[in-house]
Amino acid sequence: MGGVSYIEVADLSVAYPDPSAANRHLLAIDRLSLSIPKGAFISIVGPNGCGKTTLLLCLAGILKPTSGNVRIAGVAPGKTTCGYVFQNYRESLYPWLTVLDNIALPLWLDGFARAKARQAATELMATLNIELPVDRFPYTLSGGQQQLAALLRAVIHKPAVLLLDEPLGSLDVPSRADLCDAVQRIWQAIGATTVLVTHDLDEAIQVADTVVAFTPRPARVADTVEVPLPRPRSRDILHDPQVVVWRDRVHRAMTGGRDS
Ligand SMILES: Nc1ncnc2c1ncn2[C@@H]1O[C@H](COP(=O)(O)OP(=O)(O)OP(=O)(O)O)[C@@H](O)[C@H]1O
Ligand SMILES: [Mg+2]
Repeated sequence: MGGVSYIEVADLSVAYPDPSAANRHLLAIDRLSLSIPKGAFISIVGPNGCGKTTLLLCLAGILKPTSGNVRIAGVAPGKTTCGYVFQNYRESLYPWLTVLDNIALPLWLDGFARAKARQAATELMATLNIELPVDRFPYTLSGGQQQLAALLRAVIHKPAVLLLDEPLGSLDVPSRADLCDAVQRIWQAIGATTVLVTHDLDEAIQVADTVVAFTPRPARVADTVEVPLPRPRSRDILHDPQVVVWRDRVHRAMTGGRDS
């Protein structure tokens, strides 16, 4: 990952209290270091439970590291505007607000009048060519529609940092491809330094400048693969022989060198 570092993760370790044994700890991240240039798009892949969400929580300033440091533009996380699509998106939309108000909420909290915030949300959806039943409440939408709403809410205020925790997980294949394109368009439009966690290696490669593969817990960097392909990128790039080699390398890093 070349360029001047914007997000700097230095020797980060996170230990949780072990839920199954009093006075014991469970190490989720072990002395992890990462350096992400401003405006870059990074994908993170790794086995279940290895510490990916834990890292995003530290980048957002929601979780305090046990040791080591996270700095964004030289200051502690939480001081930078940040958009976050949580892995448990179903619990992250406010059930008492309509879909449009959910999407508009970050602007509203920033001091925009409600009508103006709602208008900005409508315009964002029009720009991205996304349709949702915006006057309904989130729990009346399908899982995929809720995920879309959570994604729009995360970017409505054009954050400097965008953290996406499996944001396309419950979408069907065509919707996933559309949204993958939308994520790239959003990223190019707002220029946010973006970290995407995904289990889909194709998706990871298609969107990212760099794919970082984590080891099983505790998370450490198993391998880093640069993807210096031109943009915009469609799914066609996945047939590129280079991409096939990169996918294989990421897969091997995640499985510790095993073939399957
Ligand atoms: N609050 C908590 N208390 C105790 N252990 C926790 C807590 N949160 C996470 N863990 C443990 O820390 C480890 C890393 O969790 P994390 O959610 O970061 O994994 P992940 O890589 O995001 O997994 P997945 O791909 O399944 O989402 C797991 O073993 C998990 O059980
Ligand atoms: Mg997770």
